[in-house]
Amino acid sequence: MESKIKEKIKHLTDKINEHNYAYYVLDQPYLSDAEYDNLFRELESLEKDNSELIQPSSPTQRVGHPIKSGFQNYSHDTPMLSLSNAINEQEIHDFTQRINKWLEQESTSYIAEPKIDGLGVSLIYESGNLVRALTRGDGYTGEDITHNIKTINAVPMVLRDSKNSHPEFIEIRGEIFMLKSDFIKLNQMRSQEDEKLFANARNAAAGSVRQLDPHVTAKRKLSIFCYELGTSKGLDINSHWDMLSYLKSIGLPVNPLAKKIDTIGDMIAYHRDLEHKRESIPYEIDGSVIKVDNYLLRSNLGERARSPRWAIAAKFKSKDAETQILDIVLQVGRTGVVTPVAKIKEVEISGAMISSATLHNQDEIDKKDIRINDYAIVQRSGDVIPKISKIILKKRPKNTVKFNIASHNCPSCQSIISRIEGEAAYRCENLSCKAKLQGSIEHFCSKNAMNIDGLGVQIVEQLMHSNLIQKIDDLFNLSYSDLVILDRFQEKSANNLINAINESKDTTFPRFVFALGIPNVGQHISKILDIHCESSIKKLSTSSLEDLEAIDGVGLIVAKSIIGFFNSPSNRETIKNCLNSGVKINKTVFRNSKELKDVTFVITGSFKNYKRNQIKELLERKGAKVASAISSKTNFLVMGENAGSKADKAQALNIKIINENKLSSLLDEQNS
Ligand code: IVH
Repeated sequence: MESKIKEKIKHLTDKINEHNYAYYVLDQPYLSDAEYDNLFRELESLEKDNSELIQPSSPTQRVGHPIKSGFQNYSHDTPMLSLSNAINEQEIHDFTQRINKWLEQESTSYIAEPKIDGLGVSLIYESGNLVRALTRGDGYTGEDITHNIKTINAVPMVLRDSKNSHPEFIEIRGEIFMLKSDFIKLNQMRSQEDEKLFANARNAAAGSVRQLDPHVTAKRKLSIFCYELGTSKGLDINSHWDMLSYLKSIGLPVNPLAKKIDTIGDMIAYHRDLEHKRESIPYEIDGSVIKVDNYLLRSNLGERARSPRWAIAAKFKSKDAETQILDIVLQVGRTGVVTPVAKIKEVEISGAMISSATLHNQDEIDKKDIRINDYAIVQRSGDVIPKISKIILKKRPKNTVKFNIASHNCPSCQSIISRIEGEAAYRCENLSCKAKLQGSIEHFCSKNAMNIDGLGVQIVEQLMHSNLIQKIDDLFNLSYSDLVILDRFQEKSANNLINAINESKDTTFPRFVFALGIPNVGQHISKILDIHCESSIKKLSTSSLEDLEAIDGVGLIVAKSIIGFFNSPSNRETIKNCLNSGVKINKTVFRNSKELKDVTFVITGSFKNYKRNQIKELLERKGAKVASAISSKTNFLVMGENAGSKADKAQALNIKIINENKLSSLLDEQNS
């Protein structure tokens, strides 16, 4: 009897998965919604009566429990780089010429794809099972969003049978997004329920993926296209085109608009055609991505610090609108830098109402001869702050007024502002300037820092104005009764804010360190410090200048800045108060980060299966040091083909030489 039920459960599971594949990957659905729901309900009811037969990968198990303690950080096995941009056709041209020159050939084959305006994700499958899904994060470390990604029916929990068995480990990169139609429906629903609307489909997708409770994500309709591989073990694929068809064969949605391209003419035609079709494509795209097809050529081309040389994102023209500059005002940031901002006659650009645009600095104002009352073109692309791209001189009215920042004081504390040496920017030096304090609190709450939803510029200003907060740690002493009596707050919003503040306490080292606003310590450096300090603030605060300077990626300026920050009793007090108020720093999990500690490698020559950078990255992730020159401290020389003088030097110093095969087994051994 049990085996019959087991069989029935398997049959229903297979049928549901098959239909998901037909629907999301092949775009050929064959069941109606009602038929699909019936299968699902039948499976649910069988599992309800036979709970011992429920498989973790069953379609009914996609929506799990809320996660309680914030998002766990994980390092990516292969970093998730970004793409460099081509902003016009000439730059696409330049890209192909660079590639041909580098590869010393006359032409190269490419694949062109739409650049989807969503958020990058890494899906990790081990022996065919989805084990983890991570956000891109800073490219090196991402947040664990498995509980939410599992709710997306288009993401298989188990990969489909392909001709070969599934790789032991594979990182698949793709883009999560929301269809334009699903975004509109979501906002309609939110408006009926008096909830805040999402500004665009990208924000809606990002907000959905960053939920603690997967039940919320499951209600949002998210989609995915997969487009790259990270690390994979046991897979033999030589080109992007083959990789895309492999992804499809194992059940992952791949963009049907991807196309093989051989000439620059076809490339430009593809880009123009896509821009032309942009509005009729059911999801938001902001350009095309052009990628070298052949993997061997890709590895010859290698990578820059943040982007591969073998691909480029060709952006569409940014959207702009004509407007008039009504005034020019100054804004003070948390570091005291004073930025001129144009207040403009409100205009709509791709769904957002724009009423101000940055003017960057006085040099920019002078260069473009921007004056109050001028007519101008305001430009907005993606999430970037709108800017004035040019003045319409033909329309210049008689009453324009020139603007000179030097004749102004700090708009917040009225102190004299002075030009920063060697830079175009002006700064307010007053330590107790309220705008600076406000800026540092806004920064602390912002998305990439403590991510306190609902604590935007206006609320921070209101809380400071009501004397409820003067510094960062005061946020954690706010209570419901403080808020509910304020204008703009009601029971629900006061509760939401207190909850958001409490939720933010469960955080990570990079977020907290970045949030502190230590000069010169951005998100990237915070991640580097996380590795070095093993997620311990205590370790960071007691590191010496020498300790800090010795960290790869941390220079003297950053090291001095950190020491200066922790030398200040008030900064130390702030951190102490945050921790006493319940801020909890979760440890980042690094895969195998210690196994090659204190072992120094040098890499030389070229390799079949790895890029040099990749070897460096993989070794460093295991705690090894990778030096650029052979010395008596070197333990191993990793030698590829066409190695130069380093091999001779290593032999002379009796240093062990390992080839690519040995390296692979060393890396594998350490992985197991
Ligand atoms: S390839 C190393 N292909 O654009 C290159 N990225 O600016 C890996 N994106 O972080 C990315 N559509 O989130 C690639 N067809 C596509 C893409 C795409 C959108 C996003 C991705 C990436 C960002 C780079």
